[in-house]
Amino acid sequence: MAADRGPWSPDSWQERPAAQQPDWPDRAALDAVLSTLSGYPPLVFAGEARQLTDDLARVAAGEAFLLQAGDCAESFETFSANSIRERLKVILQMAVVLTYSAGVPTVKVGRIAGQFAKPRSSGTETVDGRSLPSFRGHMVNDVEFTEDARRPDPSRLIEAYHQSAATLNLLRAFTKGGFADLSRVHLWTQEFVRSSPEARRYESLADEIDRALRFMRATGIDPVDQPTLHEVDFYTSHEALVLGYESALTREDSLTGDHYDCSAHILWIGERTRGIDDAHVEFFRGIANPIGCKLGPQATVDETLALCEVLDPDRTPGRLTLITRMGADRIAEHLPPLVEAVGAAGHPVVWACDPMHANTFTSPSGRKTRHFDEILRELRTFFEVHRSLGSWPGGVHVELTGDDVTECLGGAEALADHELDLRYETMCDPRLNGRQSLDLAFGVAELLRG
Ligand code: PEP
Ligand code: CO
Repeated sequence: MAADRGPWSPDSWQERPAAQQPDWPDRAALDAVLSTLSGYPPLVFAGEARQLTDDLARVAAGEAFLLQAGDCAESFETFSANSIRERLKVILQMAVVLTYSAGVPTVKVGRIAGQFAKPRSSGTETVDGRSLPSFRGHMVNDVEFTEDARRPDPSRLIEAYHQSAATLNLLRAFTKGGFADLSRVHLWTQEFVRSSPEARRYESLADEIDRALRFMRATGIDPVDQPTLHEVDFYTSHEALVLGYESALTREDSLTGDHYDCSAHILWIGERTRGIDDAHVEFFRGIANPIGCKLGPQATVDETLALCEVLDPDRTPGRLTLITRMGADRIAEHLPPLVEAVGAAGHPVVWACDPMHANTFTSPSGRKTRHFDEILRELRTFFEVHRSLGSWPGGVHVELTGDDVTECLGGAEALADHELDLRYETMCDPRLNGRQSLDLAFGVAELLRG
């Protein structure tokens, strides 16, 4: 019970074991960076986080759908207006497909503007008998296999902050300044996608939207007067893994007196850091943002209920999103007891499916990959389970990029193992490319239509 835990503060997590934290070599340098960050302006505002909680409450009530998507790990190296725009385009396209072919409003959340820290299954990596600290994301160290690159460097926390700020600034400009206008729906297709069957399917949907806008105009409803046709609400998210960074960006809201982690609108707890008595859960229980928690196939009913009780003691609609990542083979067995127990305990959670993280394998060519069919299979079972239990399959959480990468197998283009090497660019997990993402959106829209 939350009440048994004693008082919360942005630093109360420090009394508990924190998994997956970098082994910072210079404590004084880290403290100096954290003190600098704690004086920096917030990246998001409390009011925006509250608005997202309201939007997610509609998802929890079965009136909207959550699309959470973006990089596995953002990079300091591929930071450019282009890369931000391409990622936004593909998410906007997917949202259009979901909204217009399934008729359900879509809440759009990027894994972007802060997704710089990675949990690792092992603290060290060994190559040719030589062991170095694992790569933990650009907020911590670099991916290159040298002692220098792998040494955790706290000045990277500052760089992560500035890159997040610049990314968020551009996202706000794009989504509020005309780029996301529905009359531009045709312009969101990437060049390399343009000639594909998915793009043709998307184009015919975009034509229908054009017709609808013309119809509105003809009947005297001027689309110019409808802000929702010109702007979108686009929210940011990341795994709040490095707790020093997150607590340094936590601010008390002057309006409500509540604390918000102002590094992103919604934060989530990863599968490896959700220990009920551990530091991450302690930190998350006190922040007023909407929050997520990953649940893998090992998550028990008792663990899940305990997490719900600590993270959502007031049973607030939209407060908690449970992101299940069970694997295509295991979801049918493991998801139903959790859905039933959480429902019976009265937590109005959003159920989202991450069909990526438990369907990862090493292909014969030696690449870490995922197959499009398995991703869609986990999603299909996710919808079936929720439909059979009378709960709402509320959202999807995926790793993607707008670029023409070759990291996941299959999809309409039937990407094969021997093609993975062509443009395998991820620093961490394999992402869907622009075509596969669009393809997936059409698949999910079909599931939504039921
Ligand atoms: C992730 O979302 O990139 C991730 C590491 O997921 P999980 O915690 O579910 O393994
Ligand atoms: Co990942």
